[in-house]
Amino acid sequence: CRVRHYKFNVVMTNTTRLCSTKPIVTVNGRFPGPTLYAREDDTVLVKVVNHVKYNVSIHWHGIRQLRTGWADGPAYITQCPIQPGQSYVYNFTITGQRGTLLWHAHILWLRATLHGALVILPKFGVPYPFPKPNHEAVVVLGEWWKSDTEVVINQALKSGMAPNVSDAHTINGHPGPVANCSSTGGFKLNVESGKTYMLRIINAALNEELFFKIAGHTMTVVEVDATYVKPFKTNTILIAPGQTTNVILSADQSAGKYLVAASTFMDSPIAVDNVTATATLHYTNSGTNLATSQTTLTSTPPLNATPVANNFINSLKSLNSKKYPAKVPLTIDHSLFFTVGLGVSPCPTCKATNGSRVVASVNNVTFVMPTTALLQAHYFNIKGVFTTDFPGNPPFSFNYTGTPPTNLQTTNGTKLYRLPYNATVQVVLQDTGIIAPENHPVHLHGFNFFAVGRGLGNFNPKTDPKNFNLVDPVERNTIGVPSGGWVAIRFRADNPGVWFMHCHLEVHTTWGLKMAFLVDNGKGPNESLLPPPSDLPKC
Ligand code: C2O
Repeated sequence: CRVRHYKFNVVMTNTTRLCSTKPIVTVNGRFPGPTLYAREDDTVLVKVVNHVKYNVSIHWHGIRQLRTGWADGPAYITQCPIQPGQSYVYNFTITGQRGTLLWHAHILWLRATLHGALVILPKFGVPYPFPKPNHEAVVVLGEWWKSDTEVVINQALKSGMAPNVSDAHTINGHPGPVANCSSTGGFKLNVESGKTYMLRIINAALNEELFFKIAGHTMTVVEVDATYVKPFKTNTILIAPGQTTNVILSADQSAGKYLVAASTFMDSPIAVDNVTATATLHYTNSGTNLATSQTTLTSTPPLNATPVANNFINSLKSLNSKKYPAKVPLTIDHSLFFTVGLGVSPCPTCKATNGSRVVASVNNVTFVMPTTALLQAHYFNIKGVFTTDFPGNPPFSFNYTGTPPTNLQTTNGTKLYRLPYNATVQVVLQDTGIIAPENHPVHLHGFNFFAVGRGLGNFNPKTDPKNFNLVDPVERNTIGVPSGGWVAIRFRADNPGVWFMHCHLEVHTTWGLKMAFLVDNGKGPNESLLPPPSDLPKC
């Protein structure tokens, strides 16, 4: 293992997409940002220097950060933001993880343009548990707004309405040939007949779960969220914001050009579609002047193709081999039930919506961002920043299947749920559908969890646990709570610190669909948080 040094200069960069040019926030002038490479067991030091007028923080999404919560990145949760002109060195060691993850800004909506791939190679000399592909490529899916994303979100907060959806999806930063003014510059994946390619697919979009497809080809899924899965073939990938999926693609079709596409999945009566992003898979041995008629188009699933989504999700199982066993907690110390969903709350200044606005909550608590980072408040015992009375069960009972409950009320608060070090935890996440049912990709910081159960309608505590998969459930860090349904996750609280859990649709996070766990120190010498680094930003 070695130490890897990276420097991230956060700067404004003029970028042209969809017929117009605007300055966007980037790392080192690139959109998407640079790919960060490391190996399992390496120590990574990333010096982030803030040259822009916004506060910045960077999150290493899916990195366990064992005892190094100071480097996790969510602003006001584990650190105060890096202020304009300041810098901070994120210092962490990658323990027991290998695969594809992503890094992204974790403050307001800066993630829209501040994101990139994080590739962790296996330890030197350790092979993949599948035939080694001939080549690898990173495929980052995102979104593009014609207006400034900060303007989009501020308008939404002021008006009380949902913000505008993005103007296009992107593949490696480009909407692709189908979008306006985009015939050039789209992403091109060059392949050679007979070779195999590992695509490291990342969904870095703000607000959209996506289907990903390559015309004429099937893909073999081998890994999600940097954990190996039992390989399976599919022609469509479902990937939520924050999730990553590695697939093996064989260039086994007749030489030519094939369209690659990323389109929205949203199973909700309030769904709006965005412009599908496209890219080109190009067999280099097919010659240089292929006529466009030789391009094979792909048809993406419709917006609300829930059967396609379910089919993909149900195929995901942990590899659970001797070398990579699924360590599912079999007994549970803390059994929690969290409702996640949207609601309404009074907003006297919101004229467009007659004095109300959309809010979101977990167990009817709309999370209020503190002004001091929670991890500092915890470590230095600063009083009055948070409380530890986050409810383990919903305070009101209601029907989760779509009938609006009589009590829509949410409470504002910075409430944490306290877990003793090493406790085993089960959380059932139930979509409530207060305004309308909707998918919620929920991300837990600091841990991987096992997705042991999933269903539609109301979770039944008597019968549903009987069907849990405790043998080879998929292990990940971000899980889609189905629209009008539930998922059950299990993890071991073996990482001391303050760990954020939230919907990875940024619009829902903004509305308050977030909470945090406080995990106490353990008793052993390696079970407590390391001291904070000296350059930790101050609020
Ligand atoms: Cu990828 Cu808290 O986020």
